[in-house]
Amino acid sequence: MTDINAPIGVFDSGVGGLTVAKEIMHQIPNERIVYFGDTARVPYGNKSKETITKFSRQIVRFLQTQKVKAIVAACNTASAFALDEIEREVDIPMIGVVKPGVKAALKATRNGKIGVIGTEGTIASRIYPQYIKEMNPDANITGKACPLFVPLVEEGLWRDPVTDEIARRYLAELIDIDIDTLVLGCTHYPLIRETIGKVMGKGVVLVNPAYETARELKELLRRRGLLREQEAKLGDDMYQFYVSDSSEKFKQFANSIIKYGILSAKTINIEKYERSVEITGWRKKY
Ligand code: DGL
Repeated sequence: MTDINAPIGVFDSGVGGLTVAKEIMHQIPNERIVYFGDTARVPYGNKSKETITKFSRQIVRFLQTQKVKAIVAACNTASAFALDEIEREVDIPMIGVVKPGVKAALKATRNGKIGVIGTEGTIASRIYPQYIKEMNPDANITGKACPLFVPLVEEGLWRDPVTDEIARRYLAELIDIDIDTLVLGCTHYPLIRETIGKVMGKGVVLVNPAYETARELKELLRRRGLLREQEAKLGDDMYQFYVSDSSEKFKQFANSIIKYGILSAKTINIEKYERSVEITGWRKKY
């Protein structure tokens, strides 16, 4: 039987997923979290489906060694490329950020014209238009890959003229096509939300899928009787952070995003979590 006091696993290629972790901390504050940022292999956005699936599988295996009760792929690229396949392989619930993002966008739009920005992988996968069309066949979707946004965020250039300039260039084609909603379809992008908002102007609602993701996670845990009731005490291993490369920079970022005082971030060798690692809860051999 699953332990309701077990943590939730959250992962991303780097710091982006912290925007989702933060929202989970806010909406379900009693839940413990084990976060993994794949800082050695970021960015994910320009890599193939096969590579992202392999990376995600290793991370999920690592998270399972931490005995998590559910996993959030806090990365649009991993949600687009790997989630469908991997969620069938494990017997704990897994959710991604794309479906919640789609629901949030459809709630926000008034004129049905929706822009989606994301990594090259997410935009090329066409997962957003596919899900949006499934829920609203009349919607009109324009996607735009913004590959330099992730390195800019990982470099800490959140408020910087360079980021302003790149944003103006990327977003130019989304202006004047009458979209009223823009999905931040990469978990790194909320960190430069101010810049994106400035370029898009006040008439465009920016949708951050994190809010809806945390809401759906809460609902999922509630349905399965997995919501933790025990009150959170910060410091008693509530939040643990792991990375695949040096942890100092990650720690600084994490502290500025989350503000609960990230105590430490441990570096692990994620490639060790290959198929030979014996893990309970891994449903089938592949
Ligand atoms: N933050 C991730 C996403 O939501 C990955 C970005 C990247 O590593 O390219 O897509």
